[in-house]
Amino acid sequence: MKQLGSKIIQLDTVDSTNNFAANLLSRGELVHGTVIMADEQTNGRGQRGSDWITQPAMNLTVSFFVIHDNLAVNRQSSINQWVSLAILDLLKKHKISASIKWPNDILVNDKKIGGVLIENQLSQNTIKSSIIGIGLNVNQTDFHVLNATSIQTECKSFLPLNLVLLEFIESMNSCMKLLEQNNFEELKELYHSNLWRLNEPTQVKVKDELKTGIIKGTTDFGLLILELDGAEQHFDLKEVSFVY
Ligand code: BTN
Repeated sequence: MKQLGSKIIQLDTVDSTNNFAANLLSRGELVHGTVIMADEQTNGRGQRGSDWITQPAMNLTVSFFVIHDNLAVNRQSSINQWVSLAILDLLKKHKISASIKWPNDILVNDKKIGGVLIENQLSQNTIKSSIIGIGLNVNQTDFHVLNATSIQTECKSFLPLNLVLLEFIESMNSCMKLLEQNNFEELKELYHSNLWRLNEPTQVKVKDELKTGIIKGTTDFGLLILELDGAEQHFDLKEVSFVY
């Protein structure tokens, strides 16, 4: 795959950088590797249909457009693993140690610092392309919710967003290598070694019932493997949530 970041589009305000990318794509005006960054999103979208709300010009709200080379449709979890590891790589550059709460919430000491929303374009049995949206808290220090943090909160230093973006593009490119080499096993292993609460008892909510489960890993399809009531079971995003 060609390197990402050859074209960077910087916007003041947009509804959602993922929507902006999707519009360009539908008009045939989006090239591989394009990075779209906005100071402000008026309709930022998160996982499970949630909103992604952040203070304008304080954080990274960015989308990458990637055209894949013959990537099988069951590799959606590998894309997720690559992007999650790239965020961890960027945070490591700032001496922040983070973990990945399945499937792709990035946590620092149980507080969310970033999230990922990937929208894949499928064609028959392959993933043709992906719009990869990332929200990363950089300079915001006041949050409406208790369990959020940012690079500045962790490091006590203000960082220019353009610099963080360039560092992040570098992390995305270097972590992309395993995906390019079809080295899915190593990608998954690295993802697992950074998975939040792996092999630890964790409170989970399943069908409105609170239970204690143990995260055992993820399947090749990206489902969560949870040991629950003495047996390993597989869950998708809609079927389980964590209480912490
Ligand atoms: C989540 O944790 O719920 C995922 C959040 C993803 C937010 C990013 S910000 C840039 C891109 N544009 C969006 O509308 N959403 C993603």
